[in-house]
Amino acid sequence: MIKRQKDVFPQRHRKAVSTPAREKKLKHKLLIETKKAKSLERAICKMSTQVQKQIGKDLHDTVCQDLMAASYMVAEITERLKQVMAIVQDAGALTRDIARGLSVDVGPDLLPKILSNLMSKTADRFRSNCKFRLGSDVKVADDAVACNLYFIAKEATQNAITHGKAKNIRIRFGHFKNGGYLVIKNDGLRFQEDRSKTNGIGLNMMNHRAHSSKGSLTVRAGARNGTVVGCFFKLR
Ligand SMILES: Nc1ncnc2c1ncn2[C@@H]1O[C@H](COP(=O)(O)OP(=O)(O)OP(=O)(O)O)[C@@H](O)[C@H]1O
Ligand SMILES: [Mg+2]
Repeated sequence: MIKRQKDVFPQRHRKAVSTPAREKKLKHKLLIETKKAKSLERAICKMSTQVQKQIGKDLHDTVCQDLMAASYMVAEITERLKQVMAIVQDAGALTRDIARGLSVDVGPDLLPKILSNLMSKTADRFRSNCKFRLGSDVKVADDAVACNLYFIAKEATQNAITHGKAKNIRIRFGHFKNGGYLVIKNDGLRFQEDRSKTNGIGLNMMNHRAHSSKGSLTVRAGARNGTVVGCFFKLR
């Protein structure tokens, strides 16, 4: 006698046996689950693309910009370091010359060129706008006067940068009928006579140099701002 299904399969296996109806139901369920899984996958995909885009935007707006700014700063520092090196080399050469007992090489003929160089070097070093204007061909008396005039211009320029925080400096060099002039003008903070009595020796040295060149020196506030240093001297 054929055993009935109930008897052949133990209880736990009996559920696995499919009937066509059950099989159809299962297929349908599988289809729904597959659709759900696919739509979930698409959602995850979309979400991760959005997250990636957001991270990209955040990186662009923060780290990328910081890195770019840092790279500009490095380039700027490199440029400044080159300038510092040039200053150190110049100072080294000058110190060597002085140590050898030579004075600064400023003769009457070289003076306009040296004053012009002073302006371009100052413009480079301090990022300021410096101009030199030669009014006329000036015949200064000798090397000593030329040297004094150069150091007056140098000190006035240095003071304009250090104390005046000037952005524009002008040197004019020329002569009138009865004498020469060297004028150093800047647009920085207004010169204040009462504040000029310090331990510094710059103003006194300029005065001394002007007098030993048989000339005179005036230091006064500009009409609106800054300082005007004027040295008037005898010609050759
Ligand atoms: N161009 C300027 N603009 C504003 N203030 C100035 C200017 N030149 C000079 N002064 C004032 O006059 C003071 C004296 O200048 P001075 O050149 O004699 O000395 P210093 O520059 O302070 O020091 P040193 O020249 O000895 O290095 C300065 O400390 C500053 O207060
Ligand atoms: Mg000074």
